Amino acid sequence: MRSDHYLFVNMKKNAIVFVFGTIILFGFGSCKKDKVSTDCVSSTTIHFSTQIKPMIDNNCISCHSAGATSPDLSTHANIAANATLVLNSLSGSGVQLMPLGGPALNDSLISQFSCWISQGKQNN
Ligand code: HEC
Repeated sequence: MRSDHYLFVNMKKNAIVFVFGTIILFGFGSCKKDKVSTDCVSSTTIHFSTQIKPMIDNNCISCHSAGATSPDLSTHANIAANATLVLNSLSGSGVQLMPLGGPALNDSLISQFSCWISQGKQNN
């Protein structure tokens, strides 16, 4: 009788330790800052006219307009033709980080550009 009771109390203690242990593990796990991915992380359709073009116009066109610094990023055709180079420039991988002088655009904008490429660089 006494040992049954002891066993029960011990099991309850183990259960509590287990539950708290799990919470603490997951709690700390989610605090760990992973390297943010700039790969495409969206399944929704990215729109050139309302997302990509404004991103370029706001951050790049001051230097990359027609007749200015190459590549010319003023049209859909030119942005599409230079898409991989542009994506690499946004994260500074292998080429100079853009916008020139930084800081890098935020990850959601870079991911959006990456998704636009994966979705076929549509002129939508
Ligand atoms: C302040 C001016 C300026 C802005 C703003 C700017 N760039 Fe550039 N960009 C340059 C210059 C200058 C070069 C060429 C010199 C170099 O490679 O360092 C260049 C080069 C590039 C290249 C070619 C890299 C290569 O190695 O061939 C790409 C692609 C590019 N920029 C994309 C962008 C994008 C995308 C943006 C906006 C997010 C942007 N740039 C914003 C000035 C700018």
